[in-house]
Amino acid sequence: MRVWVSGARGKLGAEVCRQLTAAGHEVTAADLTGDAPVDLMDPASVRESLTGADAIVHCAAIPTPEAIDPAQLVLRNTMTTFNAMEEAWKLGIRHAVLASSGSLYGPAWSPVDLPWPSAPVDEQTQLQYVDPYALSKDFLERTGEMYARRGMQVTALRFHWILTPAEVREFVAEAPPAANASNLWGYVDLGEAARACLLALAPRADIDRFLTLLITAEDTGSRRPTAELLAEHAPATTVTRPLPGTTSVFDCGRAASTIGWTHQSRWRTG
Ligand SMILES: NC(=O)c1ccc[n+]([C@@H]2O[C@H](COP(=O)([O-])OP(=O)(O)OC[C@H]3O[C@@H](n4cnc5c(N)ncnc54)[C@H](O)[C@@H]3O)[C@@H](O)[C@H]2O)c1
Repeated sequence: MRVWVSGARGKLGAEVCRQLTAAGHEVTAADLTGDAPVDLMDPASVRESLTGADAIVHCAAIPTPEAIDPAQLVLRNTMTTFNAMEEAWKLGIRHAVLASSGSLYGPAWSPVDLPWPSAPVDEQTQLQYVDPYALSKDFLERTGEMYARRGMQVTALRFHWILTPAEVREFVAEAPPAANASNLWGYVDLGEAARACLLALAPRADIDRFLTLLITAEDTGSRRPTAELLAEHAPATTVTRPLPGTTSVFDCGRAASTIGWTHQSRWRTG
């Protein structure tokens, strides 16, 4: 397969390119930075770099709302997605994987205190975001859904915080639990996130033409039991089934049953 990867010089995109190449695919790397920059804000630039591709993995984005004006964030994240999908469609490309985010649920970047309504969280959990980054990811999912209605196979992967094992230790395990209550102590290993992108490229039955999939580790990044963390730091969250040990609050059963992805956790031993 010839796969076009946007955001190819970023954290996730670079790992996706590495895994695609290792699996024998041909990769076209598109990024704003590097020797041959491609600006996804410019449709002509996107079209030129996409020519000849069979599929796209769209990772380019402003990945956090922390240091950018909200209007710029929304403009950039929506238009880069639209240009990638529109130009891919026009060139006859019919397979797309889009980097969405667990931020869509709301609490992660909320400027106000926003409790998670229930646990575990899955793709049926209500979206209640109040921030522009999540809004831009909802646009990404809706754009994907629109092209899927036209006939494209689209997978929007709702990644949790993408971390290496060392980063899980530093940012979650060693941090005070209150610091990560808004993301329920979740993470996804960088290599596992990229592997989900590769699996999502495989052709599927029409019934699954558009999928949104949660992509999160099966355990938390904490050493403390999940039930204890929830009781202490998320008392307003209704726990609907037992979460033994350090089980993740995020249920990725749909990713397992549709694209065969399960997270092989490594941070505790890696
Ligand atoms: N990092 C996380 O924890 C996380 C979690 C959930 C979802 N995501 C999503 O995953 C994707 C990848 O995130 P990341 O952490 O690798 O981010 P990153 O910032 O490391 O990489 C993003 C890349 O996109 C490129 N880019 C930005 N605007 C562009 C444009 N106009 N044209 C071309 N390239 C452009 C940047 O140059 C950069 O190399 C993003 O869509 C992000 O929203 C990330």
